[in-house]
Amino acid sequence: MCGIIGYLGNQDTKNILLNGLKKLEYRGYDSIGIATITASQELSITKTSGKFPTLKKAIVDHPTNNLYGIGHTRWATHGKPSKTNSHPHSDCTQKIAVVHNGIIENYQELREKLTISGHNIVSETDSECIPHIIEDYIAKGHSISQATQLTASRLEGSNAVVVSHITEDPVKLIAFKSGNAGGVVIGYSKNATFVASDITPLIEHTSQFTYLNSGEIAYISENNVEFKSLKTSDVLQKEKVILQVNNKSTQKGTYKHYMLKEIHEQPQSIVNTMKDRLFTAPAKIDLSDCNLDISRLKNIERIILIGMGSSLHAAMVGKIWIEQFTGIPVDIDNASEFRYRNPVINENTLVISVCQSGETADTLGAMEIAKAKKAYQITLTNYLETQSTRLANSYIHLRTGTEIGVASTKTFLSSMAALFILGLFLGNERKTIPNINLNQTILSLNQIPEKLNQLLSQESLYTPLAKTLSKYRNFLILGRGLNYPIGMEGALKLKELSYIHAEGYPAGELKHGPISLIDQNIPIIAIAPQDSLYPKMMTTISEIAARNGNIIVLTTEGNTEIKNFAEHIIYLPEIDELLSPFLTAVPLQLLSYYVGISKGYNVDQPRHLAKSVTVE
Ligand code: G6P
Repeated sequence: MCGIIGYLGNQDTKNILLNGLKKLEYRGYDSIGIATITASQELSITKTSGKFPTLKKAIVDHPTNNLYGIGHTRWATHGKPSKTNSHPHSDCTQKIAVVHNGIIENYQELREKLTISGHNIVSETDSECIPHIIEDYIAKGHSISQATQLTASRLEGSNAVVVSHITEDPVKLIAFKSGNAGGVVIGYSKNATFVASDITPLIEHTSQFTYLNSGEIAYISENNVEFKSLKTSDVLQKEKVILQVNNKSTQKGTYKHYMLKEIHEQPQSIVNTMKDRLFTAPAKIDLSDCNLDISRLKNIERIILIGMGSSLHAAMVGKIWIEQFTGIPVDIDNASEFRYRNPVINENTLVISVCQSGETADTLGAMEIAKAKKAYQITLTNYLETQSTRLANSYIHLRTGTEIGVASTKTFLSSMAALFILGLFLGNERKTIPNINLNQTILSLNQIPEKLNQLLSQESLYTPLAKTLSKYRNFLILGRGLNYPIGMEGALKLKELSYIHAEGYPAGELKHGPISLIDQNIPIIAIAPQDSLYPKMMTTISEIAARNGNIIVLTTEGNTEIKNFAEHIIYLPEIDELLSPFLTAVPLQLLSYYVGISKGYNVDQPRHLAKSVTVE
């Protein structure tokens, strides 16, 4: 969702901002722009709807002698993508520029008041109110710092804002954050200060960061950054964290797309998630890096897993594992539903949130409810120092490296791996693991990367299959048990990457409605590894074949009987039944990727989608 970059330093501001915006593209956007203040005290704004290349063309006339500035990638909420609705927005005096991520819930009222008092509001956005309110406070004699702080107190909802302005005042950039709006992080390098919505555009410049919490404001001047509480104006002493992030994980290397690179990184991601946490002979699960409160975990009576999108699907798989390993009742909920239904929770409830970005607004909202009800919370995240890690009691770091493709792949597999490990850990602590040999299970887990590599080595099979399948408009994906959520994840991937309508169903549900859809025009993908549910899947596959359905089957290597039923077969390496989702997910990722490619779509940034959904 909206990306923010700001810069005050002695290098070429325009280039730094453009480079930062390029790095923010992965968040998903529809418009883009920058505002800079030149040495001759002029505010210049260049912005456009569309993507980076359109801005690059428009920017040739933008001044080069800039002292500081801000940039923004917009994901439309209020007002369609257009040049006027793009950020940065300015005031009537054209001295203030503002970029915003979030939703100003009382913007209609603010806009009405501003219009009545004579302000010329040109866009349809909620964001444009901000520079005009600041303008009013400045007209009343307030400094830019006071005016921005007073403006922040007038905005309802969750908002992350950066303000830049023409001024003699030493404070050149101001950033504030309220509610669960996306992140605001300050980065420090020699002779420069940065501000951004996440660290991705900053890691090539610095490894020192300070994160703003909700209710905080940062005043950035040449040699200093001062932090204050928005409410009390008290000066805050905030620490600088040192984060060594591998710059390579934000580069595409030899791959055509980030998504393909990330699909291929999955064997290593799984290794990273398991590293130093699983041991064999004797079997041991070590989650000491997660700061778990063992005495509280021993008293847990109920577990609720929450998440959105692919993270919710990982949670659905995790539910089955955790319930099996712990014997504790486990519920699963979509975070956006959970947060508005007054869930029954107490201090003996464990809430596990799956949120790779640490920023998803609905997941954070749900976590706040869980916190207010005193649940114990563990969050699974790919980024430390995010809002989710601050809200939870403990976290499990996925350690996959940055995921740039909007559609999750490696974070999905690593979230499942982390849930499996957590389930084993809880079961082991509570001595509830049923008839499975822990040592053997860990050995099988260790085999996943190798089996994934086997699957990925057959990538060339997917291009012709994807070409054949790309002409269809609807798909059904059926699975049972652990592979039902994988069917839903596969359907989500197809929707995201190829704009094809696809539904993931539990195979047993077919007869209760979807069966009437069967004809040659709706390919049905059946996830049918040869496990304990295979006979049930075979019954479903036979029923589809009897109705002349168009069947594609994912099954275990060596399965010969399936040839009589399926038009296409994708073979999977053999693996412990409990671990099959790690393998079955990957062909569906590859298939969706290649269908998207064969249709000529932008698979790294599918239309309308955002990587971190920071608004409701
Ligand atoms: C967006 C992304 C998905 C992701 C979901 C949840 O919809 O496009 O890929 O699965 O958000 O993200 P989270 O950061 O909460 O795991």
